[in-house]
Amino acid sequence: DTNQTPFDALGGEEILSQLVDRFYEKVSRHPDLSPLFPDDLTETARKQKQFLTQFLGGPSLYTEEHGHPMLRARHMPFVITPVQAEAWLECMERAMDDIGITGLIREFMLERLTMTAHHMVNQPL
Ligand code: HEM
Repeated sequence: DTNQTPFDALGGEEILSQLVDRFYEKVSRHPDLSPLFPDDLTETARKQKQFLTQFLGGPSLYTEEHGHPMLRARHMPFVITPVQAEAWLECMERAMDDIGITGLIREFMLERLTMTAHHMVNQPL
């Protein structure tokens, strides 16, 4: 289907949900990331599933509930250096490994997430 979105190519809601849950398991165990996040990541994961759905061209779930993402502004309360950006991306790559996300969709997602993660950096090393 030529109208397939990246969200469809990934496998839709179920695969995205598995990816995000696996990602936050890794975040919660990462020494450079866990101090920034709440102990209970249920709500964080729910919002990230909504955000990534629309980021990948699926339904605008995040915006419908929370308004414009303004991601950089929403991250300003947290100190994010290039160390945190690389750690975030590392957790995402390892989660992709675990869920078996390979090929073009993996390359596409990592390219876009790498740009977004570096855009969140708000403090030098
Ligand atoms: C929220 C850290 C990159 C999307 C958050 C929160 C933290 C955080 C601490 C608040 C969690 C909570 O209180 O529930 C980081 C760090 C990053 C990073 C250290 C490293 C660069 C990203 C990227 C994306 C993203 C690349 C998108 C692809 C989100 C979203 C939320 C969020 C959608 C929820 C915002 C809301 O409250 O509505 N992030 N983040 N983050 N992050 Fe990140």
